[in-house]
Parts: sequence; C-alpha cells; structure tokens
Amino acid sequence: MKILVVGSGGREHALVWKIAQSKKVSKIYCAPGNAGISELAECVDIKATDLTSLADFAEEKKIDLTVVGMDDPLVAGIVDVFEARGLRVFGPRKNAAILEGSKAFSKDLMKKYNIPTAAYEVFTKPEDALRYLETSDYPIVLKADGLALGKGVLICKTKDEAVAGVKELMTDKAFGSAGDKIVVEEFLTGREASVLSFVDGKTVKLMASARDYKRAKDNDEGLNTGGMGNVSPNPFYTKEIDEFCRKNVYQRTVDAMAAEGREFKGVIFFGLMLTEKGPKVLEFNARFGDPETQVVLPRMENDIVEVFEACIDGTLDKVDLKFKEDAAVCVILASDGYPEKYEKGKEIRGLQNFKDKEGFWCFHAGTRLTDGKVVTNGGRVLGITALGKTPEEARQNAYEATKLVEFENKYMRHDIALTDR
Ligand code: AMP
Ligand code: GLY
Repeated sequence: MKILVVGSGGREHALVWKIAQSKKVSKIYCAPGNAGISELAECVDIKATDLTSLADFAEEKKIDLTVVGMDDPLVAGIVDVFEARGLRVFGPRKNAAILEGSKAFSKDLMKKYNIPTAAYEVFTKPEDALRYLETSDYPIVLKADGLALGKGVLICKTKDEAVAGVKELMTDKAFGSAGDKIVVEEFLTGREASVLSFVDGKTVKLMASARDYKRAKDNDEGLNTGGMGNVSPNPFYTKEIDEFCRKNVYQRTVDAMAAEGREFKGVIFFGLMLTEKGPKVLEFNARFGDPETQVVLPRMENDIVEVFEACIDGTLDKVDLKFKEDAAVCVILASDGYPEKYEKGKEIRGLQNFKDKEGFWCFHAGTRLTDGKVVTNGGRVLGITALGKTPEEARQNAYEATKLVEFENKYMRHDIALTDR
C-alpha cells in the first residue's frame, strides 16, 4: 500500500515510524513532513491545510490510505474532501471533528448525555460573560470555542484576570473567530490523564494511557504549551478510574455522536482531570496527541495500518489492541523561549547516535534540512523517547538519551515522569 501522512510534528514522525513497520506498506509520503520524517518517507511540500492540493496529490500518486495527524485539516473537513473524490482516508468527517473544533459543542454534548465534566456556561456576547463573572467563584477557566493552536484556554485566578481574559478572547480577538463564542468553566483540580482511542463509529478501543506535562517549566510552572513530555502508562490512571470511564465516558461519547447523526471514525483523545470527585472530561481531541503518540505507539504491538482500516470499515470489534508491558517516557527538547519567542536555524548535532539504538527514539518535531544539515525549525524540536521495565527506568533512559543530541538554546523540563508530583 501507498500511504500519505498529513502533518509535520513529532506525532507525525511517530506515526510514520509505526506505519513503516507495517507489512502492508510499500511507500510512505508525508505532507509537509520534517527532516526526521524524510528518512522514512518522501516529504512533499504541500501545507497540511491545503485540502485540494492534498487530494490532487493523493489522486495523482494513487495513494491507498491517507492518515491525518493534525486538528486543523480535520476540523476544516479534509475527510469529506477526500471521500467526495473516492479517496480512502483515516479520520473523522467535519461534522464529527467538531468534537474538538467547538468546545461549546462538546460541552453541550456532555451535558445532554451525562458525561462527567466541569460545570460551564457559553457566551456569545462579552457583556453577558462579564455580568456572569460578577458572581462567579475563582479561579475560573475561559476557553475560546474554536481551535487556537492549543493556547485558547485561560486559567484566571481573580475576577480582574477573567475580565482581562474576556477582553482578550472576545473583544480583541486574540485568536480570531475562535473567540466569537467562549466557554466559562469551573476550575478543576487533580492530575490529568490522556487516553487515546480508536473509534469506528460504534466500537471504541483504548490505547495505553499517558500523562502529559503541559506547562513550560518544572513543577508545572510557566505557560501552557503543546506538551513538554509524556509518560505511558499514566501511573495515576488506576483500574477503578479505567472502569468508571469505560462505563461513563468512552462508549457514551461514541454513542452520543452517533445519536446526533455525527458518526465518529478515527481517534478520540479523551483529556481527563482525575478529581477527588472522580474523573471529568476536560476536553476531547479528534486526533492523536502530541507528544502522547510518541509514548503510546512505541508500546503498541499491532500493525497500525490494519487498525486504521478496521476503523474505516467498521470492523474494530474484531481487533485486539495489544501494548507492551514496558513503560515509555518522552522528553521534549525545545528551543529556549518556547512557547513565546525563540530562535530557529540552529544546527542539531548527535542525531546519528540514535541509529539502531533499540528501545530509544529521537522523533523530530520542529526540524528541517538546510545545506545537508539538520537545523531547528520550531519551538518543540525533538522528542526523545525511551522504553524501560518501569516508568522510573524509562524516565532514566530517556533523560540519559537527551544527552546524545545538542543544539544551541536546547531546553527541557527535568521533572517529566517523576511520580511524587
Ligand atoms: P484544554 O485544551 O481544554 O484541554 O485545556 C488545556 C489545559 O488547560 C488542560 O490540559 C488543563 O491543564 C487546563 N484546563 C482546562 N480546563 C480546565 C479546568 N476546567 N480546570 C482546570 N484546568 C483546566
Ligand atoms: N499533548 C496534548 C495535545 O496533543 O493536545
């Protein structure tokens, strides 16, 4: 089979690596890809949001299956565009990708179908939101309704911060039309868990759990980022929590989407807060996580292409997902300054140290090739993943391996997968 992967981050590198293990695959393309991906796939210079050019390319190259990693093309309807042209594609249609594309939609769905989540209100006018803030408890959480590069969530400790937040999202439109509507939500405390799942419209099969470290600095300080590291399994995702979510969250979400006439096929990523009153859904994503994928796929034993096909064909009930007992940890090497200002174009040295190093991966997130050299090209640059018999062993292995690569302004958190916090 010929496969096209859409996207250019560490998640897509992990997907391409996993797809390359499949017996069914003869050739992989990636649009637009990055320097690391180009070692396994032919990178094509088409933007992930240029849906028509992607479909033209898939038609021209007779691609058998397209796999979409990123949220923007999914929410924009890439699956509908491909299907209308008879092209096979893995991911939710536009009317189902709204599960991630609109936070107001997902909150209303959870309320209607009794899926545990934080209490909330939706506002379309800033003056109504401001009036509501007068009598709220603090901290409180403001969320832009639409996609905002993972930055549309504001945690406001005081009323003044919340008032400024409403202005930023709704009046100044910091995230454009994503802030036309906002969700104002109860602040939850607890540890977070990321649970990715495959869905075929009816059946949901869970991948191994993960824990994401979203803040830029150690001890969960600093700004929210796309994720600075991950561990799988999530040590706080217990059997009891899993049972509760199987009963009250996962299948119920898939059934709710089907009942709404929005059959979901693809990956649902459940972002959970493990509160004292039980797990609650913080958000849904309609795609693989980044960097969750970099710890989950190295543990997965199945041929992933077979799983993609089962999701498309509605035969996921026949698939037995298997994950290694080994734990995995991913530490992100970022450009100092991320998620704000940072420099690009710094040469990366030591990448060859990962060649044939079993149980270790160096996934490229923001890199490109310039004059035969691999240079930094983003805030998150590399994801160093390692396996270990326990999360602690995987943590030590991953941190040891971060020493194998160097670039100017290399920055990482040092507390990924420490379980005492
Ligand atoms: P989201 O994009 O909705 O997952 O939000 C991004 C991050 O903001 C989450 O991973 C949490 O760390 C934090 N967050 C979102 N909603 C809440 C909430 N209701 N209470 C506390 N933290 C939250
Ligand atoms: N790491 C969180 C996400 O992919 O949204």
